[in-house]
Amino acid sequence: MALQAGIAAGASVFEVLDEPTEQLTGGQALQRARGEVEFRDVTFVYNADNGAVLHNVSLKVPAGSTVALVGKSGSGKSSLVGLVPRFYEPSAGAVLLDGVDVRQYALRDLREQISLVSQDVVLFNDTIRNNIAFGSGVATPQAIEAAATAAWVTEFASELPQGLDTPVGDRGALLSGGQRQRIAIARALLKNAPVLILDEATSALDTESERRIQQALTTLKRDRTTLVIAHRLSTIEQADLIVVMDEGRVIEQGTHAQLLGGNGAYALLSRLQATSA
Ligand SMILES: Nc1ncnc2c1ncn2[C@@H]1O[C@H](COP(=O)(O)OP(=O)(O)O)[C@@H](O)[C@H]1O
Ligand SMILES: [Mg+2]
Repeated sequence: MALQAGIAAGASVFEVLDEPTEQLTGGQALQRARGEVEFRDVTFVYNADNGAVLHNVSLKVPAGSTVALVGKSGSGKSSLVGLVPRFYEPSAGAVLLDGVDVRQYALRDLREQISLVSQDVVLFNDTIRNNIAFGSGVATPQAIEAAATAAWVTEFASELPQGLDTPVGDRGALLSGGQRQRIAIARALLKNAPVLILDEATSALDTESERRIQQALTTLKRDRTTLVIAHRLSTIEQADLIVVMDEGRVIEQGTHAQLLGGNGAYALLSRLQATSA
């Protein structure tokens, strides 16, 4: 139950929650993962009253590849990716990193392998600079500034009286949602972890800011395993594999071209977005 409590608070600030109470199982040390992620017959229940939100999901993500998850709101995409850093644990089945059940690793080591940019980024009550550097150990000012520039943080920070040394307020309240997402992207660039999770990472950005940080996101995905949940299908067409989820199940998977040709759920979604854009 201690784990469950940590989870509820921890989805966006998991790095500070690596307290001993959460270290339920694993003691296996992990320096740097290759980054192969596998969901093996995963079923997941938040609470028994509502039933399972994931049903027997199996999916292998080779190291270095990009897999996109698409599907209606509530189809289980965020729940699925939340199992990788162990915000939650499967009710049945397992999640593996480099072939080892994630529950076997020391929690801190596991989470060092993962950068996460989510829909709703929560920051620490500290400066922009320290929020970018968080989780990266010792980072030089040059490295922090390069990440800030690439993620388009400098664009708004330079307008502030103290620049990157401006405090962000309690949970980042002094900034907009889009500004917080840009800081989280800068943090991910700097952290350079082998596994990247982008859960609607640009949903709070206006089209112009999103266009400008696409380059940073492309750089970020290169040479690492990426699980990306996109609100706009056009941003994930290049993924190595696109997985369509519905009501907690994988209903289709393939490349963009294959899925369009298959004329199923993805093709329908794609046509709907094209006409509403
Ligand atoms: N913390 C939670 N507690 C209980 N149910 C949840 C929680 N988070 C999500 N759910 C439920 O799990 C299902 C899948 O949600 P989610 O994984 O967020 O889907 P998606 O990311 O595809 O929109 C939904 O029915 C949602 O209401
Ligand atoms: Mg979601």
